[in-house]
Amino acid sequence: MLGVNCSSSSRGRTYQSYSLMLLFNDNLGEPIGGGLKVGFYAKSCPEAEDIVKKVIFQTISTTPSLAGPLLRMHFHDCFVRIIDKAKSALEKACPGVVSCADVVAITARDVVSATNGAHWDVETGRRDGRVSNITEAFLNLLPPTANITILKAGFAQKGLSAKDLVVLSGGHTIGTSHCTSFSNRLYNFTGKGDTDPTLDPNYIARLKLKCKPNDQKTLVEMDPGSFKTFDQTYFTLVTKRRGLFQSDAALLDDSETKAYVQSHAAAVGKSSFFKDFGVSMVNMGRIGVLTGNAGEIRKVCSKIN
Ligand code: HEM
Repeated sequence: MLGVNCSSSSRGRTYQSYSLMLLFNDNLGEPIGGGLKVGFYAKSCPEAEDIVKKVIFQTISTTPSLAGPLLRMHFHDCFVRIIDKAKSALEKACPGVVSCADVVAITARDVVSATNGAHWDVETGRRDGRVSNITEAFLNLLPPTANITILKAGFAQKGLSAKDLVVLSGGHTIGTSHCTSFSNRLYNFTGKGDTDPTLDPNYIARLKLKCKPNDQKTLVEMDPGSFKTFDQTYFTLVTKRRGLFQSDAALLDDSETKAYVQSHAAAVGKSSFFKDFGVSMVNMGRIGVLTGNAGEIRKVCSKIN
């Protein structure tokens, strides 16, 4: 899996991505998180977070389209080569100290700040896995066609709440998607050449102009007009039945997630979404981590030492 575009959702991208599978342990089911703390590298590599931040801010300012992939990779099994750039800078400053898993977590935080979004104190202290045959990464188990029952169960299995689900789905405020991730909603929803009745028909018409049947390559902005900016407009889209995936639309099918979507769609100015996002990202960053003496600190993120 290493060194290749590792998932079907990476097809057609212009950047290179490769498998992140080696970074975490095979214990994804448990929300451990013990041993992580804010400022883990304060003594061993005081510059660590600044070094990563510099690379990420430079990258986003020159290539804003990398924001989406860089945020998503924290939960997905693919990651982009920018991580290697940050890692080599770290290896020069503090060889063998900062894990690749932490670089990914710090990167996710910095991408959100670099796109004008939330800021949170990231927990660090993760170690990198030594095995390659781990359970598939979290989000691979949750397809874009998932309904609210599957989504809630998937999150609960990792110790994450319905609130985490709705808040983190707000990550779809940045980035793009392949037509393949939602084209069933446009062309063949129930196998009879029909459309998804929960998707705004006007939006369907617009999406059909971009995505022809069987289009494997085209990328569509998930939050049209502001896909490079981290904001709460995702929730407005969902209330207008313009969430791109069934999993986005499904947030209206549960009273708790629906209430969150509605209140943040209606919020004037900054809502609690930014703060909530930081909290849920920390929760998510605790899933299946290795700490203490477990695993290793990779020298190169794409390879076991
Ligand atoms: C709740 C379950 C989720 C499902 C089913 C889901 C599904 C997807 C799918 C299908 C794509 C498009 C892939 C493609 O066709 O290229 C996507 C993109 C994305 N997702 Fe999610 N996602 C979920 C949760 C999350 C979470 C928790 C985050 C982060 C907080 C996230 C962040 C992103 C980002 C930033 C992109 C854009 C990636 C890019 O621009 O390349 N997603 N997601």
